[in-house]
Amino acid sequence: MTELSKSGAAMTEPVKDSRPPSAFLEVRDLKVHFPTDDGLVKSVDGLNFTLEKGKTLGIVGESGSGKSVTSLGIMGLHTAGQYGKRKAQISGEIWLDGTELLSADPDYVRKLRGREMAMIFQDPLSALHPYYTIGQQIVEAYRIHNKVDKKTARRRAVEMLDRVGIPQPDKRVDSYPHEFSGGMRQRAMIAMSLVNNPELLIADEPTTALDVTVQAQILDLIRDLQKEFGSAVIVITHDLGVVAELSDDILVMYGGRCIERGPAEKVFYEPRHPYTWGLLGSMPRLDREQTERLIPVKGSPPSLINIPSGCAFNPRCPYADVPKDNVTRTVRPELSEVGSQHWAACHMTQEQRERIWIEEIAPKL
Ligand SMILES: Nc1ncnc2c1ncn2[C@@H]1O[C@H](COP(=O)(O)OP(=O)(O)O)[C@@H](O)[C@H]1O
Ligand code: SF4
Ligand SMILES: [Mg+2]
Repeated sequence: MTELSKSGAAMTEPVKDSRPPSAFLEVRDLKVHFPTDDGLVKSVDGLNFTLEKGKTLGIVGESGSGKSVTSLGIMGLHTAGQYGKRKAQISGEIWLDGTELLSADPDYVRKLRGREMAMIFQDPLSALHPYYTIGQQIVEAYRIHNKVDKKTARRRAVEMLDRVGIPQPDKRVDSYPHEFSGGMRQRAMIAMSLVNNPELLIADEPTTALDVTVQAQILDLIRDLQKEFGSAVIVITHDLGVVAELSDDILVMYGGRCIERGPAEKVFYEPRHPYTWGLLGSMPRLDREQTERLIPVKGSPPSLINIPSGCAFNPRCPYADVPKDNVTRTVRPELSEVGSQHWAACHMTQEQRERIWIEEIAPKL
């Protein structure tokens, strides 16, 4: 294995013969399937996206849409065997800084974790060890990747705690996780994940467990740190409102696939997929004109073992009953360009949906 290089210039040769992409992170046709007694769970089923350094991608979708499975896939954590005896079946390509991670040596990917790429989880308690102080854990995370003495590492830990807004960091460095509030623990975890200046940071529902004011503070912190460190950031959430401001691009997942992606303001203000409209409909307030009335999505997420045929969203889509040719139930819509850099997977055009809305749906509401 070639030596690790922060610049990415001398990394391991990709095993697959496809061309390395120019983007910092490029995910190509990622599939993560789990064999279970009930059948094959297709948690992620053909995902594509790119992300550049200094940019933030928001991944949005209901619970169970495959967001965490995607992030664990990028981090190379599905192959670590923590899901019991049956391993996930993973295919596709994950290019990070010129190296394809799915075909790379697992040891190499393990070394990248915490150094080139780091993750912030929803529940800091699951990532922090209860028996060690916050400082000991940050020092450990730092020293795995840097040959420095404990004193230097401790200085670095205090500096990071200060940077993420922990008051009296030189004292709090010796606290245990349970001595911190939820918001402080999340800050400490952010400090730990950033201690090695990772170039890719994945925050998986980083604020879901926190109250609204603390949520806003943590999101501000992630935004500030992103600007300061210039890393590529993926923020995962079920709440479109949370990522709309923070992200450059938004990717909406439904049933393990991307059903809409594009620049954040386009997806937020001019969503093109009925499911995205539905996600916006679940939000309390929107100050913009509405061509289609916002109604929250009814029904429940699709089974990932028996994904509905045709468009996976058809059992819940207000438009699905209108076309007479039944194409929504037989042919799966692929992503098509609906605006500049804006893609949606729906058989209908915006004009067709607007007409159906006005003529067929609105009168029955
Ligand atoms: N190890 C596993 N074995 C079987 N199914 C799994 C496994 N991990 C996740 N899943 C399933 O994959 C789907 C997507 O999960 P996840 O990515 O965690 O959703 P979310 O979008 O809420 O983060 C869920 O239906 C979940 O039950
Ligand atoms: S393809 Fe049909 S069912 Fe799917 S989102 Fe579009 S209108 Fe709805
Ligand atoms: Mg999740």
